[in-house]
This record gives sequence, C-alpha cells and structure tokens, in this order.
Amino acid sequence: MKILVTGGTGYIGSHTCVQLIEKGWQPVIIDSLVNSKISVLDRIQKITGTRPAFIEGDVRDADLLQKVLTEHAIEAVIHFAGLKAVGESVSMPLKYYDNNVHGSVVLMQAMKQCHVKTLVFSSSATVYGDATVMPLKEDAPTSATNPYGQSKLMVEKIIADLCDSDPSWSITALRYFNPVGAHESGLIGEDPQGVPNNLMPFLAQVAVGRREVLQVYGNDYQTPDGTGVRDYIHVVDLAQGHLSALTHGHGKAGHHIFNLGTGKGNSVLEMLNAFGKASSKELKYKIVARRPGDVAASWADPHKAKSVLNWQARKSIDDMCQDTWRWQSQNPNGYP
Ligand code: NAD
Ligand code: WQD
Repeated sequence: MKILVTGGTGYIGSHTCVQLIEKGWQPVIIDSLVNSKISVLDRIQKITGTRPAFIEGDVRDADLLQKVLTEHAIEAVIHFAGLKAVGESVSMPLKYYDNNVHGSVVLMQAMKQCHVKTLVFSSSATVYGDATVMPLKEDAPTSATNPYGQSKLMVEKIIADLCDSDPSWSITALRYFNPVGAHESGLIGEDPQGVPNNLMPFLAQVAVGRREVLQVYGNDYQTPDGTGVRDYIHVVDLAQGHLSALTHGHGKAGHHIFNLGTGKGNSVLEMLNAFGKASSKELKYKIVARRPGDVAASWADPHKAKSVLNWQARKSIDDMCQDTWRWQSQNPNGYP
C-alpha cells in the first residue's frame, strides 16, 4: 500500500515511516522542512534499508498535492504536517489556523479530487481542554485553551461534517497524549529547535549538558508528589497505532476517534528520576511557579483503541528514557 505521509520528516512522522516500511508499505513523504531536517531521510534509510520517496512542499499547495496523490497512486494519507508550539500559537494565531486548519482543508479537497478517501489525522489530548475527570474517554467533553488546541478541534469538526456529507470517507482522528522516546537504534528522535517547550527533550538536554537545570513548573498540584502528571507514550508505540488505525480504517466508512495513550500517569519528578537512572546522571532541577495553562493531571482511557484497533502501548517509562538518552547522547546537537 502506498501512503502519503504529510510531515513525514518530523518527530512522529519519521518513526511512523520506519514502521510503514517495516510492514512492507510504501510511505511517500511531503514536508516543507519548516520544523525538520532532510537528513532524517538518511537515518530512515539506515534503519530500514529503504529511502522513502520525498517531496519538499507545503500541504497548502493544492496543485502539488493533486500531482503527488495521482503520480504516486496513493491509497491513504497520514496527516502529521502542522505546527505544534502552544505558546507561539497564542502570539501568532493566524499562522496556526492557516497552517493547521487551512492546510487540512486543502489536503482533504485534493484527496476528494483524486478519490483518495482514507485519512488518519494527528489530533491531540489537548482537545480535552482543562478536563479534571480522569481517565479521559473519547466521549469526554472537548474544549480548547489556546489556538493550537482550537485548530485541532476545528479540524476534527471539519472531518465530522465531511464524513456526514459523504459516507465513502474513512477518517480516523488519533488523539495523542504525551509522545516521548526515540527509535531504539538511537538514529531518529525528537530534535526541537531552540529551547524545548516539553519536558522530555528538556530533560535530555540537561543530561547531555546543553542546559543547566530543569525548571519544574509547580509542586503544589493535587497530585501524589505535587508535580504535574501526564500520560507519556513511547513514539514507537504511537507510530504502530497509526498502522493499526490504517488497517482498521481502510474500507471502514465513517469518522473514528481514538485516544493513544498508556492509561497511566507519571509525575514530573518520576520522569526526572527515570531519566537520571537511564542516563546515569544527577539531573539538576528547581521548583518554580506553575506554567500558565497547565492542568494538574491528564491521562487516557485507552480501552477503545485496544478493543477496536487491537492496539495497546507496550513500552515503559524506562524504555522511553533509555531510548531518548541513546538518541540524545549519540546526537547531542540533534540532526546534522
Ligand atoms: P514535528 O514538528 O516534528 O513534525 C511536523 C512536520 O510537519 C515537520 O516536519 C514540519 O516541517 C512539517 N510541516 C509543518 N507544517 C507544514 C506544512 N504546512 N506543509 C508541509 N509540512 C509541514 O511535530 P510532531 O511532534 O511530529 O507532530 C506531528 C503531528 O502530531 C502534529 O500535527 C502535531 O500537532 C501532532 N501532535 C503532536 C504531539 C507532540 O507532543 N509531539 C502531541 C499531539 C499531537
Ligand atoms: C509535561 C509536564 C509541565 C517542561 C504539551 C502540549 C499538548 C501536546 C503535548 C501537542 C507538565 C512539566 C514541562 C518543563 C516542567 N502537544 N514541565 N518543566 O504540557 O502536557 O502537553 O505537549 O498536541 O498540546 O500542551 O507537555 O511536556 O510541556 O509538560 O515542569 O520545562 O512537565 O508543567 O506538567 P504538556 P509538556
């Protein structure tokens, strides 16, 4: 099967391309490289022995999309391409709505034009807003606390309307919890530009000596140790979830939504300790004020994905930390 992977040189996209190739499917990547490096392709080739087809371009370019869908005889699309920095989305909302919402509309229009009607969309647990009842099931109320989250909710709504209007579409929105970790080879991983916004890449940069100290955003939450609790999921488990969604969705009409998480929450201090163990380093940290917009705790109810997709996360937080450390220590400055 030939799969168009938008954003395929990015963090989650690159790990998914590896899994697709290993399953014998053929990813065709389109990526503008706005947040990734072309050298990712060398690494995918090193892991799998296959270099995926790559087209440098933007998903808002309708003509390019139609050309790629047709010339490569694409059967299904996984849509990762998007911007994901929550803080930046607050200061530059139009950039986020244009990239994430408009980009998704242009993609679905091109797919319609070319009669490709199977899509897997990268959604996020951010669509549960500031929910406090855990674990989160797919039918929990949704809301947005920032333009990034709103862009994901808007695309989910557009998908629902599209599937209502034409039952020949099969679209699966996957709501990821907190993706972390790296491929076990240490050849691909997360490579944020500038100061990392997220916990795991920050910890990795402290361990490798690029940053001095982790700031822990608050220790006065109603959680066992007072620090924020999240459902961290290994990126390779997450990547496999996309293959399960494609296997389940291909040919099954309608709009499907699944949480991809482990169903377990871990605190900031638990992650710090696990990363210290994996890297054999003492990681400096200091407790600072809460980060505005953070919730105390968030974790998934992953049962729907298990029963319908026959998918479940298998890797532990020790696996996540060990694999992140292998990637970070082998590539202290990220991709060349
Ligand atoms: P990433 O930034 O590493 O990958 C996204 C890729 O899309 C990058 O390679 C970037 O260059 C490309 N891109 C962005 N806009 C584009 C455009 N208009 N046209 C073509 N390419 C474009 O991010 P990621 O962590 O791999 O996330 C992938 C998807 O998953 C995103 O949609 C993100 O919102 C979603 N998501 C990520 C997380 C997370 O914590 N990483 C959690 C939930 C959902
Ligand atoms: C995790 C925990 C922080 C950094 C974000 C997006 C969400 C989704 C996933 C895309 C929290 C604490 C963090 C640091 C810290 N992305 N922390 N010091 O906020 O759960 O989710 O990424 O869809 O939309 O909002 O992840 O990794 O930023 O934070 O103490 O330097 O670590 O307060 O408790 P978050 P995160």
